[in-house]
Amino acid sequence: MIELAPSILSADFARLGEQVRAAGEGGASVVHVDVMDGHFVPNLTLGPPVVKALRKVTKLPLDCHLMIEHPDEFIPAFADAGADWISVHQEACRHLNRTLHLIKSHDCLAGAVINPATPVDTLAEVLDIVDYVLVMSVNPGFGGQKFIPGTLHKMRQLAEIRSRRGLSYRIEVDGGVALETVGDVVRAGGEILVAGNAVFGNGDPTKNAEALLKAATEAALLKV
Ligand code: DX5
Ligand code: ZN
Repeated sequence: MIELAPSILSADFARLGEQVRAAGEGGASVVHVDVMDGHFVPNLTLGPPVVKALRKVTKLPLDCHLMIEHPDEFIPAFADAGADWISVHQEACRHLNRTLHLIKSHDCLAGAVINPATPVDTLAEVLDIVDYVLVMSVNPGFGGQKFIPGTLHKMRQLAEIRSRRGLSYRIEVDGGVALETVGDVVRAGGEILVAGNAVFGNGDPTKNAEALLKAATEAALLKV
């Protein structure tokens, strides 16, 4: 099933509740929350208080993408604030298995993220415990970057491994997902589509979300 997860990174933070509601009216079914620490990525964003505030204005699942070092130290706080899904970067976790179990112990769905330069193979030993894999299709840190087509083969590879090993994780894609790229992403196996700039950058978030979902669903129907 295809789902759209707007990234609030590109939203108007002064009108966050309104913007999330608008995207939801366009069919978005997950809210993607980009957490950056200024160390793992060269940018700073938000923490648990903002997740807590979002929890009050939406019933949609809150998908917290932790682009931070030492995520174990913050996972309990994000879970307490109301996160439903929490993903951590393979590159930031010395004990990825332990960190994924920590997320699950807080009753959240657990995701593992790989940067554009990180191969799928690095996740081979955790694919049986993750609820989703997030393939970064830009180098994380900023919204509005250009999609890297060289990451598409990783979505195909994840879909192939899933059916070969009889696993059930979902495939999420983040970075540069827009009307021009969403067809390729869906045909490659992307299922949870994160989009920041394409939803909140210009125009009406409701219409933008609708158009993206329509393009994604059409591509999924044509998939062979
Ligand atoms: C990148 C973030 C993304 C990003 C998506 O570091 O993880 O979620 O903001 O934004 P767009 O869709 O604008 O590339
Ligand atoms: Zn993200």
